Amino acid sequence: MRRGLPQEAFEGRKPHIAIANTASDLTPCNSHLNEVAQSVKHGVWEAGGVPLDLPVVSLGETNVRPTAMLWRNLVAMATEEMLRANPIDGVVLLGGCDKTIPSLLMAASSVDLPAVVMPGGPMLTGHFRGAPLGCGTDVWRLSEEVRAGTLSREAFLRSESSMIRSRGHCNTMGTASTMACMAEALGMTLPGTAGTPAPDSRLLERSHETGRLAVELALEGRRPSQVMTRASFLNAIVTLAAIGGSTNAVVHLLAIAGRLGVSLDLDDFDRTGAGVPLLVDLQPAGRHLMDDLFRAGGLAAVLKEVEDLLDPAAITVTGRPLVEHLAGAEIWDEDVIRRRADPLLPDAGIAVLRGNLAPGGAVIKPAAASPELLRHRGRAVVFDSVEDVYARLDSPDLDVDETSVLVLRGCGPKGYPGMPEVGNLPLPAKLLEKGVRDMVRISDARMSGTAYGTVVLHTVPEAAAGGPLAKVRTGDPIVLDVAARRLDVDVPGAELAARPAVANGYARPARGWERLYVDHVTQADRGADLDFLIGSSGDHVGRESH
Ligand code: FES
Repeated sequence: MRRGLPQEAFEGRKPHIAIANTASDLTPCNSHLNEVAQSVKHGVWEAGGVPLDLPVVSLGETNVRPTAMLWRNLVAMATEEMLRANPIDGVVLLGGCDKTIPSLLMAASSVDLPAVVMPGGPMLTGHFRGAPLGCGTDVWRLSEEVRAGTLSREAFLRSESSMIRSRGHCNTMGTASTMACMAEALGMTLPGTAGTPAPDSRLLERSHETGRLAVELALEGRRPSQVMTRASFLNAIVTLAAIGGSTNAVVHLLAIAGRLGVSLDLDDFDRTGAGVPLLVDLQPAGRHLMDDLFRAGGLAAVLKEVEDLLDPAAITVTGRPLVEHLAGAEIWDEDVIRRRADPLLPDAGIAVLRGNLAPGGAVIKPAAASPELLRHRGRAVVFDSVEDVYARLDSPDLDVDETSVLVLRGCGPKGYPGMPEVGNLPLPAKLLEKGVRDMVRISDARMSGTAYGTVVLHTVPEAAAGGPLAKVRTGDPIVLDVAARRLDVDVPGAELAARPAVANGYARPARGWERLYVDHVTQADRGADLDFLIGSSGDHVGRESH
C-alpha cells in the first residue's frame, strides 16, 4: 500500500493509525470533519506514526430515513469489521451528529484496538429577532407556534436559516452534544475536548494533539477495555445528570457497555444519577447553548463541581484518571454552569419507571418535564402508529383534553422498526390553541435529545414484542408517579391479561438489513443492539490470504 509513502513508513515500530471519518455532505453536522482529519494527521506524523484515511458510513440525523437509529448498529458492525480487517495499530474516531459517536464507540469496543474519539463540536449560536435559537428545541417550540397560528410559515423558515449559522452539530444539549460529553466522561477523548465549537480554531489544536495521542496509545497498547470500565460508565451517568443530557444516552451507553462486557443496567442510571444536581443551564432543560457552556468553563468545570461523585480510579486515554484532569478547571459564568450549592435542580438523574405498563422499565427525564405532571392520573388516548397520530391528532372530533395521557405504540426497536424519535408526539391542535403546552405522553419510542416535555420513553417490552402497551385501550386510566418510579394502567390484572394484544401494523421486512435488524434487535433496556453483536471479538484475524 505504498501510494507515495516512503519505505520508512513501513519499517521499525511506526504505528499505523486509521482515521475513521464520518464526514459526508449528507451529514451536514459532520461535513467539516475532513479538515479535522488533516489536523489529526499532522499530529500522527509528528509523533512518528502513519495516518491512514478510513471513510466509514455516516448518519445524518435529519436526512437518513426512516430513522437514523435503524442504521446505528449497521455502522457499528461495518466499522468493527473494517477496523479488524485492515492492518492498523490504532484508530481516531471522528464523529459528531447523534449516532456517529455511539456507533464508532460500539465498533471500537468490539475490536478493542487502541482508540480515541475526536468530537466534531457544536455549531455557533444563531439569533432570530434578537433572541438566541437552539437547534431542535426551538424548532419544536416554533413549529407548535405555527400550528397554533401564532407564527407564519415564512417567519418559521427565516428562523431556521438563522439557527443553522455555522458548521457543527446541534448546539443544544441534544444527543450529539451529550454523546461528545459522554465520550469524554468515559475517558475516550483528550480531556478538555468535548464541546469545543466546530468553527473554533482550538478544535483543530485538539485534533492535532489527538493525533499525537493516538500514536502514544498504540505504542503503549492502551485499549478501550482498559479505559471504559464500569467505573467510567458510572462517571458518565453522573455527568449525564449534571449536564441534563439526552435520554438517548441511556440506550447508547447500554449498547457500548454490552460490547465491552461491562455490567450496566437501567437501574444503574436511576441509582447513580439520583441526587446528582443539574448544573448546566442549557436548552432543552434550560436557557443557554453549547457555545455558552464552552466559554463558561466547559465540561471540565462541570465535572470539577461534582468531583466527589466521580470514581477517582477511572482512567482516560491519557492513562491518567479523569479526576486528575480537572485540576485548574474553573467556572467563568455561573449563569451557565451553576455552583453545586445553587443548582437548577437538586436531582437531575434520569428516572427509571416500572409497573404493569413497563415491567422491563421505561425512562423519563424529569429535568425536561413539567413538575406538576410528574404525578398524574389521566385517561389514555391511544395511537397505534405514527401514521395514526398524523391522521387523527388534529381532528376536532378527537376525544381529548389537557388531563389526557397520549399513548403511542408500535414505535420500539422491532415495531417501527428502529425506535424513532417520535416519543414527544405533538399536542392536539385544539389544545395548543387553548394554550396547553405539555401533556403526559407514553411510548415505546425514543425522543430527540433536543426535545422536552413530560414524556415517558423506551417502554420495555415494546408493544411489538408483546409488551402491555399493546393492550391499553383509549379511556383506560393511566397513573404516572415519577417520585414512586411507577407507571401503571389502572385496569384489573385479570382483565388486562385477557385482552388481545393489538397487532403491530408493520409487516416483517422481506430482506436486507431491516430483516436482520428486526429478527435480532434487543429491547431498549439492553441498548437496542443486535443480539449477536453484543460482546467483543478483539482485533485478531484468524486467516491470511495475501
Ligand atoms: Fe446532527 Fe442535530 S442534526 S446533531
